[in-house]
Amino acid sequence: MAKENLFLCMGSACHQMGVYDVLPQLQTLIKDHDLEDTVELKGSFCLETCSQGIVMKFQDKRFCGISPQNVDTVFTEKILPVVQAALAPAP
Ligand code: FES
Repeated sequence: MAKENLFLCMGSACHQMGVYDVLPQLQTLIKDHDLEDTVELKGSFCLETCSQGIVMKFQDKRFCGISPQNVDTVFTEKILPVVQAALAPAP
């Protein structure tokens, strides 16, 4: 099965907000939730919502307002359900 891309904005605004602290945390979260075989974490260019905190994108959904402090919660509460729903086998 092809992996689905999970994008993390690496643009300069997101960089300043701490994307390099968020990245290792995301790698751990992906591992902890057994998503390594299904999700590919990728850096992306500016996703154009720079003023709203660090941004991630999965398929057509964006997740804004991410910071090194809240990435854990945002991932578990917002991103994970979307990823899992998208990856679930069709009924
Ligand atoms: S730099 Fe991340 S949205 Fe623009």
